[in-house]
Amino acid sequence: MNAGTVYEKVVRPLLFSIDPERAHHLAIGLLRRASHVNLALRLLQRFQLAAKPKTVFGVTFPNPIGLAAGFDKNGVALPALAALGFGFIEIGTVTAKSQPGNPKPRIFRYSKEQALINRLGFNNDGADIVANRLRRWRESGRWPTVPVGINIGKSKATPLDQAPADYLHSFRRLRKFADYIVLNVSSPNTPGLRSLQERDALASLLRAVWEENRDAKPLLLKISPDLSVAELAEIVATCEEHQIAGIIATNTTLDHSSIPSDTDQPGGLSGAPLREKSTALVRFIAASSAIPVIGCGGIFDAESAREKIEAGAALIQIYTGFIYRGPGLLREIVAGLE
Ligand SMILES: Cc1cc2nc3c(=O)[nH]c(=O)nc-3n(C[C@H](O)[C@H](O)[C@H](O)COP(=O)(O)O)c2cc1C
Repeated sequence: MNAGTVYEKVVRPLLFSIDPERAHHLAIGLLRRASHVNLALRLLQRFQLAAKPKTVFGVTFPNPIGLAAGFDKNGVALPALAALGFGFIEIGTVTAKSQPGNPKPRIFRYSKEQALINRLGFNNDGADIVANRLRRWRESGRWPTVPVGINIGKSKATPLDQAPADYLHSFRRLRKFADYIVLNVSSPNTPGLRSLQERDALASLLRAVWEENRDAKPLLLKISPDLSVAELAEIVATCEEHQIAGIIATNTTLDHSSIPSDTDQPGGLSGAPLREKSTALVRFIAASSAIPVIGCGGIFDAESAREKIEAGAALIQIYTGFIYRGPGLLREIVAGLE
């Protein structure tokens, strides 16, 4: 049995037999422990993939498939995730203050639809603790050789009109560890966050961060799939005015039309039902702007990965597909790249 089959036949049935958030803790706990053990890292490296290097916004990626934000929110498992073969890893969302997130249960599986709904609400250790952890990874010599992106968002307790200061705190604490920084203005689970995508609010956030960006770290914006064409066009224009290095399209959707109403749950939907919508956004941005796009949403196989790249994505990210298909998905996508 190859690694992909082992995951789908053995590991996934075990993980899927327990509550989704407990399964996540189990998986990230194992990867965290493996991150400290050389032998374990060498075993994971058996997944290592052919190099398909690509340089985007000045950063060179060994392959164009990244792990999307939310899987390793606190940066606890960077070495193991790199050993699995990801071309880059995005940690976060990290907020200025540590916060517990919403009450549990808050992650729901929809296996038939190959989807997840989550309303975690940015549970994370906060920028100060994460920065210390990242410093320790650096000092330990285990810092991954692949690029690391850091995704930052607004603390729930911070009023929306003080959002720029909240992002700035995280930006100042974390930028030195990041190959790129993502401003997340698109999680549906922090009340009001998506309104930061509106023109004036977005412009003041981008201006505030840019003024602090002395070492010109690539600054990316992660957007919602639930935008109208007019809203999207306005966001792209604002990004161009503020030298945004890349756009991540997309976060989870509030469109639950693919989910049977008797099992539906509030939160952001990810996975297969998001695929077309996120591809449409990638296509629109790539056609209307030179800003590089990271395509994310519903990538489950080589074909859906190719779809994002053909729509104009420079890089892609996976999350739900990785939960359903494991590390074999990475191998399959890399093998299918030109
Ligand atoms: C359980 C879960 C937690 C997530 N947490 C975050 C997060 O903290 N920050 C963020 O920007 N996106 C987060 N996401 C969104 C993913 O990064 C990704 O944008 C989205 O799931 C679409 O990709 P997918 O269909 O491959 O999952 C989360 C997704 C899931 C399923």
